[in-house]
Amino acid sequence: MSIEKDYKSLKKLLKNHHQSHILAFWDQLNEGQKQNLLAQIQDLDFAKIDVWIEKFIKNYIPDVIKTDFVPASSYNSTPLGPDQQRKYAEAVKLGRELIATGKVAAFVVAGGQGTRLGFDGPKGNFPISPVKNKTLFQIFAESIAATSKKYQTDCPWYVMTSPLNHDETIEIFRSNNHYGLDKNNVFIFQQGTLPNFSPDGRILLAEKATIACSPDGHGGSIVALHQSGALDDMKRRGIEFMSYWQVDNPLINIFDPLFIGLHALDKAEMSSKALIKAGPKEKVGNFCLVDGRVTVIEYSDLPDELAEKRNPDGSLVFELGSIAIHIINRTFVEKLNADDSSLPLHRAAKKILHIDENGNTVESEGIKLESFVFDALPLASKSIILQTIRSEEFAPTKNATGIDSVETTRQMMITRAANWLESAGVTIPRKPDGSADCLLEIAPSFALEKEDIKEKLNQIPDIKPSDRIYIS
Ligand code: UD1
Repeated sequence: MSIEKDYKSLKKLLKNHHQSHILAFWDQLNEGQKQNLLAQIQDLDFAKIDVWIEKFIKNYIPDVIKTDFVPASSYNSTPLGPDQQRKYAEAVKLGRELIATGKVAAFVVAGGQGTRLGFDGPKGNFPISPVKNKTLFQIFAESIAATSKKYQTDCPWYVMTSPLNHDETIEIFRSNNHYGLDKNNVFIFQQGTLPNFSPDGRILLAEKATIACSPDGHGGSIVALHQSGALDDMKRRGIEFMSYWQVDNPLINIFDPLFIGLHALDKAEMSSKALIKAGPKEKVGNFCLVDGRVTVIEYSDLPDELAEKRNPDGSLVFELGSIAIHIINRTFVEKLNADDSSLPLHRAAKKILHIDENGNTVESEGIKLESFVFDALPLASKSIILQTIRSEEFAPTKNATGIDSVETTRQMMITRAANWLESAGVTIPRKPDGSADCLLEIAPSFALEKEDIKEKLNQIPDIKPSDRIYIS
């Protein structure tokens, strides 16, 4: 069909859906821009868009949180009693076997915008390590390489990006020679996007020939894993489990035999790691049971009186916080795609850059829609939760300063390194407040867990106050 014919039919379609303004600048566009804009319009699913506009914009009523939910139960970070001790030992053995036989892949979601950090470019390229200033991507890559070496296998790594940062991410991996990994074992793929809306339900334009869109949330990974061919690639390699984490957490233990083993022993489809929340309103999701199914309720959705509710011993009733670390079965994601079980959308009112009716760029409040991967948890036939220890595994870099910031993450990386060394018998100089009086960094190739240090004690130098020490 010619551009003009396409234009006419799409103009009619837009009119029927009250979105005619998308073509307002048509006469000012060159041929290439016209084609580009028509292609974007053709990609929009107006039947769905009309439903979203009704549900999330015109008649928006915030989801009523059911009151009949209870806290979810979990495995403790260390076994409670001899039976559990046996089970944990069995799980670790099984987890190690599954890693060594190439059944587990690494999967990081890195498609977000990282607006709060104020860093230009993919967040994975943020330099974070306390001594060597390694980027998040480099730390993950080195952990994956060290695991592959330890287990004498190839651990593939799947990286989800979005159209906002895909090309840059590819270039970062290429120019860093894939951080020494075999590039055939690194699969970088893009998630989808959803249009942005004005508060009255119009699709916004980013430019005269470009519809304003945002990544469709980390829940978009379920469809993107399928559409990108990542699932097929996993199947071809014999991968059964994905170890899922967020790009902002350098303390992630990507291949944790205990977590993988417990998940597999219990025949779960999607499982989670949790920690005890630092306080009632910590900005993490809450693990609950809704209709008997493990469900994450975001911090912003948990009513204050429930967030504050305490047990007789003073602990929080809803104490299990989500740190967005999951084991997900490949076959579970295949099933969700085959059944077309799309995850629910969530609405976020945010400042959005777009052009106004005169073509001028403005920033104003609009509506973004996204889905969350944890909404797949209630769809799993079985889901377990393993508690972990904050100082061992969770130091997210979300903000430039303050809570969950670059500074707190670096400090936690030092603290974990100091704890690991001390537990192996190394003397760490400490400040009066108990924190390490030195900058420490342990390369993943040196130790992936504290047990790895004991065998290498002779390689560790004396550590004096104010030292900067990199152990590799
Ligand atoms: C998230 C979780 C919260 C959890 C906390 C732990 C949500 C809504 N909340 O919060 O339950 O306790 O982390 O740190 O997720 N991403 C994509 N594509 C997208 C959007 C995000 O890949 O379209 C990725 C980001 O790159 C990042 C991760 O998802 O790796 C988290 O995104 P972010 O927006 O930072 O989530 P938080 O609100 O911090």
